[in-house]
Amino acid sequence: MNILIIGSGGREHAFAWKISQSPKIDQLYIAPGNAGTAEFGTNLEISITDFQSIRKAVLDKKIDMVVVGPEVPLVEGIHDFFLADELLKDVSVIGPIRRGARLEGSKDFAKEFMLRHGIPTAAYLSVTKDNLEQGIRFMHTLKAPYVLKADGLAAGKGVLIIADLAEAEQSLREMLGGMFGQASETVVIEEFLSGIECSVFALTDGKNYKILPVAKDYKRIGAGDTGLNTGGMGAISPVPFADALFMKKVEERIIIPTVNGLQREGIDYKGFIFFGIISVHSEPIVIEYNVRMGDPETEAVILRIKSDLVDLFEGVANGDLADRELEIDSDAAATVMLVAGGYPGTYEKGDVITFPEKVFGSILFHAGTKISGGNVVTNGGRVIAISSKGKDFREALQLSYKNASMIQFKNVYFRKDLGFDL
Ligand code: AMP
Ligand code: GLY
Repeated sequence: MNILIIGSGGREHAFAWKISQSPKIDQLYIAPGNAGTAEFGTNLEISITDFQSIRKAVLDKKIDMVVVGPEVPLVEGIHDFFLADELLKDVSVIGPIRRGARLEGSKDFAKEFMLRHGIPTAAYLSVTKDNLEQGIRFMHTLKAPYVLKADGLAAGKGVLIIADLAEAEQSLREMLGGMFGQASETVVIEEFLSGIECSVFALTDGKNYKILPVAKDYKRIGAGDTGLNTGGMGAISPVPFADALFMKKVEERIIIPTVNGLQREGIDYKGFIFFGIISVHSEPIVIEYNVRMGDPETEAVILRIKSDLVDLFEGVANGDLADRELEIDSDAAATVMLVAGGYPGTYEKGDVITFPEKVFGSILFHAGTKISGGNVVTNGGRVIAISSKGKDFREALQLSYKNASMIQFKNVYFRKDLGFDL
């Protein structure tokens, strides 16, 4: 079959690498892709939200299945767009319809959903300009620090955690006044939870689900989880504290009620559910939902999936996921992200990347690269994800670090302390 992957990051390169190994694949396309995805398929210069151009490519290239990497096209309704089109309605789309994508597209919706289905999450209140005073009174009932979340998508920047109450009040007003545009017209004020986080992924056909390997990502730019938030500086899988007992709680209290809740609300959800989980004294609580795989978690998790991903995706599309096999490697995996100096602030693009002649035991997933003048050059803040396996995450990390020091571009930076907290 012919498959189109939507997206251009390390997650999509990892998908392309894995999908290209399937005996079921004929032609693989990636829109828009990057220098790495071009090794496994044909890149198409199409924006991820240009549904008309995606439609044309799907018809021209006789695409059977579309795998949607990032959240934005899902929240904008790419799956609904396919279902509503006579010529596209039988093309499989891996990724939820718009109503399902609201789990990520609206934090207020996600919180109400969790309340309706008894899924553990932090206490909260949703606030608009109309109930600002109520919001401030609610903040006074909470202990510091204060968590303020823009309701809508804000490219991962919409969460503020503020120690001082007066400052938090001021930020709440600024958010409602348009700090994140429309995305913060509604703000979720949340109780702060103290614990350690992990990323749990499930693939579902709307009724059945498979739990993928659990991972932990490192979001801050600096050593010891300091400095600004990034798209993710690395990841490890599995996560030592997310042991069998913890995962049983996650499955019973969070995954099953979520899948059943979607079904009960008439949302035919086909795709990934990403549960951002915090462990508070070994009890799992949902911090957020995403409706896609994580990045850079995917670049680690994918190394541990032994089964054919295309077969699993067929199970999602056909509604017979329960009959498909998911075999997980007991080895660990780790990903180290090389980023451009200055990221997540301003950084340069277009710097030539030089690779070692031989990469030792790691896979290089391109995150922000493109081909220019015969060279691979930087084309984003996150540039290369170096993924490795090992008997535990420390061994896997060591291998990634060994290769990290041999890949060069101007002002390359990476975190050297991943796993420090485990
Ligand atoms: P989110 O975009 O909802 O994942 O939030 C970004 C990050 O903020 C999370 O990964 C957490 O580290 C942190 N965070 C969000 N909500 C809370 C909370 N209620 N308590 C503590 N930390 C939080
Ligand atoms: N690594 C976190 C995310 O993909 O949102």
